[in-house]
Amino acid sequence: MPLSDLLHELEILGEQNDASETNRAKKLLNITRDTGEFLAVMVKASKAELVLEIGTSNGYSTLWLASALPASGKVVTVEKLADKAQMAAENFARAELQDRIVQVQADAGEFLRGNQQMFDLIFLDADRSSYLAYADDLLSRLSSGGVLVCDNAMSHRHELEDFMAYLSTKDTLTSCLLPVGKGEFVVHKA
Ligand SMILES: C[S@@+](CC[C@H](N)C(=O)[O-])C[C@H]1O[C@@H](n2cnc3c(N)ncnc32)[C@H](O)[C@@H]1O
Repeated sequence: MPLSDLLHELEILGEQNDASETNRAKKLLNITRDTGEFLAVMVKASKAELVLEIGTSNGYSTLWLASALPASGKVVTVEKLADKAQMAAENFARAELQDRIVQVQADAGEFLRGNQQMFDLIFLDADRSSYLAYADDLLSRLSSGGVLVCDNAMSHRHELEDFMAYLSTKDTLTSCLLPVGKGEFVVHKA
């Protein structure tokens, strides 16, 4: 299926599902289309080959990341819920991008503590209250010259203030807050 058709289908599904679903665990909570476009530009501009995504849901954002990578690139995407990981796997196969995507069904904190792989770009879109606890592990997995992008930095700014303030104390980091989608906090590591 052409990627543009699948992305459009998922945008409609996400809006309809999240408007009618009252159980938060079953909401898809996808990024906005302009955030997807922004992530694709970031992957290409930074020449990223290895991307880590925390928070797969049904894989809408993963498709933007994976489609921007060179054929040799990989996205490792972490999701704790089995039903969402299964929906994502189906979408990756429909887009024929499954070879560029490694799915990990795990808690993000456990994954970060147990994984030593380095990444050129990290996209953070999961349990915001844990980001500060993840911060040191995230930074140690980010390559020199790499970029961390964090979603919901304006829509839920109060929840991310400690995390953003902590990162601003690091001399090796340069950051900015972009009014794209729900607000993207973008951090470059020297
Ligand atoms: C905002 S949604 C991700 C949306 C996705 N990035 C997209 O745009 O299509 C957040 C996802 O993170 C998952 N999540 C929340 N806490 C998590 C954790 N501690 N470990 C792994 N996944 C988690 C949720 O189950 C949910 O599917």
